[in-house]
Amino acid sequence: MTKSGYRLKPRPSIVRMDPYRPPSSGRDGKVRLDFNENTVGCSARVLRLLRKIPAAGFAVYPEYEKALPKFARHFGVSAGQLTLTNGTDEAIQLVVNTFVNAGDRVVVLRPSYAMYRFYAQVAGARIEEVKYLPDMSFPEQKLLKSVRAGARAVFLANPNNPTGTSASPAQLRSLLQAAPRAAVLVDEAYFEFFGQTVVPWISRYRNLFVSRTFSKAYGLAALRLGCLFSGADNMRAIRKGQSPYSVNSVAVASALEAIRDASFVKRYVAEVLRARRILCEELDAMGLRHFPSDANFVLVRFGPAAASVSRRLREQGILVRDRSYEISGCVRITVGTVPQTRKLVENLRRIWQTGGSSASRAKAGGRSRMKRRIG
Ligand SMILES: Cc1ncc(COP(=O)(O)O)c(C=O)c1O
Repeated sequence: MTKSGYRLKPRPSIVRMDPYRPPSSGRDGKVRLDFNENTVGCSARVLRLLRKIPAAGFAVYPEYEKALPKFARHFGVSAGQLTLTNGTDEAIQLVVNTFVNAGDRVVVLRPSYAMYRFYAQVAGARIEEVKYLPDMSFPEQKLLKSVRAGARAVFLANPNNPTGTSASPAQLRSLLQAAPRAAVLVDEAYFEFFGQTVVPWISRYRNLFVSRTFSKAYGLAALRLGCLFSGADNMRAIRKGQSPYSVNSVAVASALEAIRDASFVKRYVAEVLRARRILCEELDAMGLRHFPSDANFVLVRFGPAAASVSRRLREQGILVRDRSYEISGCVRITVGTVPQTRKLVENLRRIWQTGGSSASRAKAGGRSRMKRRIG
């Protein structure tokens, strides 16, 4: 049967976009060191709560009124300075929808989290990319120059994904002062591993937005819950453009239970930081260069062998993320528990010693045995 009628024409901004499809299928049963998730799962208290939800709990539309002050207390803000979002992704989308018109200039960093560019593109914004420095440190001067040329919004992750590097409070202050007319979103998805935050600054800087997520340290990525913070005026505008039901009540109940179980996150973070030290020492011992990380992942330079190392690890049931399409020869490895890290290292050592050609090893590792950590 042939179809009749007109072929519908998407908006030009959609036509211009490349599809974004992260490799998130076929991961079941593997060691998941590819998406910076919690590699063991969420707290047992959250699981117990989920099992107790009555049938009516699924039948009614979500209500957040009572939950907001509880989240606000946890994050040290007022209920008017926060909105719950369907993951950080919705927070990014809300900032774009509320403040960015088609044709406006939006500044993003590269490499960074793909969804900043994604939502700005959907909105038809003009995207200005500022590259991280070769050692993957924060490109403060280039960014200031770019935002001073005029921007409606600036998106950055601190610490940044996939580099793991972070901006200092002084650098963030300079950015906020240089862009008083831009909505500046500081995405703190990896806050729990970093320990530094600018959430308290929302009372001082009217252009500041901060996002947090329950997808990483808390192990609730499947439920999609994030928080967006800013001054109360900004929040009122943001909420006007948000669907009343974009966040589901199961996610809200789970996240409330997760923040009550503070010791779960504390223990997991301590384990990851211990595993990250082990991983970095082992990478040094293998002569593999890596960038300093403030998050639960490490960006490692394998040179021309990046794709084959990632493929061979997958064959051993270990998933890592080959990022060589945007950072030549680099693979991002999520840090999980110490036993998971030891398993990764064992496999990596075997692959690196037997597989990578001596040329690729020389290119990836460099000559000096002393200075493997870049930056
Ligand atoms: C910097 C950054 N922000 C946000 C996210 C995703 O967060 P969410 O699951 O809350 O949408 C990621 C996921 O990789 C990330 O790296």
